[in-house]
Formats: sequence, C-alpha cells, structure tokens
Amino acid sequence: MDAPSERSDQTGEITISKLFSPLKIRGETLPNRVAYSPMCEYTCDTDGVATDFHKVHLGSKALGGTGLVMAEATAVRPDGRISPSCQGLWNDAQVDALRPITAFISSQGSVPAVQIAHAGRKASHSQPWNGSHYITEDEGGWKVVAPSAIPYDENTGIPHELSKQEIADITQAFAEGAARAVDAGYRVIELHFAHGYLACEFMSPLSNQRTDEYGGSLENRCRFALETIAAVRASIPESVPLLARISATEYVEGGWDLEQSIQLSKWMKDAGVDLIDTSSGGNSPAQVLKPVPNYQVSFSAEIREQVGIMTGAVGLITEAEQAESILVEGQADTIFIGRELMRNPFWPLYAQAQLDGTANWTKQYIRSAFNGTYKGPGAQD
Ligand SMILES: Cc1cc2nc3c(=O)[nH]c(=O)nc-3n(C[C@H](O)[C@H](O)[C@H](O)COP(=O)(O)O)c2cc1C
Repeated sequence: MDAPSERSDQTGEITISKLFSPLKIRGETLPNRVAYSPMCEYTCDTDGVATDFHKVHLGSKALGGTGLVMAEATAVRPDGRISPSCQGLWNDAQVDALRPITAFISSQGSVPAVQIAHAGRKASHSQPWNGSHYITEDEGGWKVVAPSAIPYDENTGIPHELSKQEIADITQAFAEGAARAVDAGYRVIELHFAHGYLACEFMSPLSNQRTDEYGGSLENRCRFALETIAAVRASIPESVPLLARISATEYVEGGWDLEQSIQLSKWMKDAGVDLIDTSSGGNSPAQVLKPVPNYQVSFSAEIREQVGIMTGAVGLITEAEQAESILVEGQADTIFIGRELMRNPFWPLYAQAQLDGTANWTKQYIRSAFNGTYKGPGAQD
C-alpha cells in the first residue's frame, strides 16, 4: 500500500499517469485530474441550505480519491434556482451549512469547489422525481427572468425581460455569492455559463434578442458573462482559481457555436478565467445531440489549442484509459466525470490501480483495498 503512485516506462524512468498527476491552477494544486462534475441534487429542505445528504454525497467523492469535488449548480439568488430545493449562496445560514462539507472534503486531501449559477428562464422547476415540470407562481414557483421575453419551450413561463439595472443586480449577486463561497471553504469557483441558464441565454442569438448593449453583436451577447467574471474575480482572492463551464455549441442552425465559444474563451482568459469546462447544449429544445463516449472532447481540444487556456473535458468519460488518453493527447487538462462517479464514488481508486498499479485508499479502508490482499501493519487483529 505504501508503494508510490508510479510506474516504469520502457526507458526505465519512473512515471505516473497523467490522470493521477497534480494540476496547479493559481494558488491551488489539485492532487489529480479527476474532477466531480457539478450534479444537482435537488435536496435542500429549506431555502437553499445544504443537508446531511450533501455532506455524505460529496464526502464520498473525496473518500474515493476525486481530486476536485465540485458542488452542484448553486444559485446566487432565490430566483436563480432550478428548483425550490436547489442549493443557494445568498445568506449566512447557507454558508454555515456548507462549512463542514468543505472541511471534510479538504480533510481527505481533495479540493472543494462550487459551481455558482443563475438558472434564468429555466428556473422554477420541480425535482426530476416529481416530473421536472415548470412551477407557476400560483403553485409556489416564481416569475423567471431572461435577456428577452422568450420562453424555453411551450411548457415554461414567459420570462420577465431584465432591465439594465436588474442585470447589474444579478452580476453583483454573482460577486457576493463567490465571496460567500470562499467564506464557506470552497477553494475553486466555477461559473455556470452553460446548458441554457442565464449567461448562456445572453450568449445565444436565439434566446437573446435585445437591442441594447447586452444583445446583437457577439461582444454585446457576451457582455453579461464578461462583466460577471470581472465582478467575481474582484470579489475573491487572487489565488483562487476561477473556472467557467460553457456550452461550446447549442446544436441549432443560427445559434451559438464553437467559433463564438473560441472568441468568448479568449475574452474570458483575458478577464481572469483559468480553465474552461467544456460542455454543450441545453439552450434549445430543438437541439440535435447524440451523446456518445467523448462527444464533447473535440470542443475542449479545439478551445485548448486555439486559445491557449486550460480546459476540462466532460461527457460519457467512464474508463481509466479513455480519460488518460484524452489528457495524453493534449485534448484537456482535467477530466470531469458525472454519472460514473455517482454510480461509483471509488472509481478514481480503481482507475489509479489500473493505470499506476497502486492507489491512495484512505487509511481507514486500507485493509479492504485491492480485494483484501493488503498484508501490511494491522492486516489482522
Ligand atoms: C442528475 C444530473 C445533474 C446535473 N447537474 C448539473 C449541474 O448542476 N451543473 C452542470 O453544469 N451540469 C450538470 N449536469 C451535467 C453533468 O455535470 C455532466 O456534464 C453530464 O452528466 C455529462 O457527464 P457524464 O457523462 O460524466 O455524466 C447534471 C447531470 C445530471 C445527470
């Protein structure tokens, strides 16, 4: 068990896999390149406050050796929640509930991260196990907001078109939410600019038909995202890494696409974003998307190559060798894994054993590691 996480290559040099080598971003060093992708749990009992479920759920990823443990899309204002049970970062009670969760993740050698978000016109929905349907104001939901009064589909509410002052208020809420996140113990912040939520709605010419400086040209459609980055960067310490998840394309003719994502990524890099977490889709029910293994990796590779910024690949990456070759081929700097880590929080330890011939099991589990073949101290009592 005490063998280092290393293997020999043909020249006799000791190497470790890329997946299990550290990644430095600003003042943080992630212990490996496995990141838990943000995954909504829809499980806060009241007012966006995390529960024991969140602690056990995210804690299990840290026990399992995931280097970066990212909390779900966490709303910076009540009207930015996807569902009434989504997590929030707009008050002190929420910060108090998050502290033990981040402390536990850090205690296991993992780095706690949070994705801060505003769901825009896709807010006010029921939990998936209650149908994921739009909740009207009469049913206890709220009026959703967006760049333009265009609903996501015929089943969702017509959003209120944000005024310029209301846009500035949301930007400010992102800055305050990010500061609270740092106060809560998160060591990495990700901005949710993907999947058809508010920032993504601003970016797409299909959902943003404004005629002021927040709509029209690419620069104008990206203004909300870039102003939000500037406000967030100014509200968190210089040493804290800032990530942004984008939808690299919305898979609809005439909509947001990779070329626009590359330009946006250049601007985001200049504005202080350290890594682009490269997802896709979610802004239009008309999207044509066929998820297969690695289906978003080419977006990550293209942005990494053309912009010269670190990227994360995500989407149906489930095998150790698959993740390793994405990194070795220079298509990404880190691998975000969602559903596979949900199914198996110990995935990183098995992947590390497969790639490097050893794994950093937590000491309490040492006697169960490697199918019980451990023979070291305390093997019998
Ligand atoms: C239940 C569930 C919840 C999700 N919640 C979020 C979220 O909060 N933020 C986000 O950016 N993506 C979210 N996603 C997308 C995942 O982070 C991930 O990008 C997607 O599942 C593809 O990766 P995978 O194939 O490894 O699961 C969610 C996906 C699922 C299935």
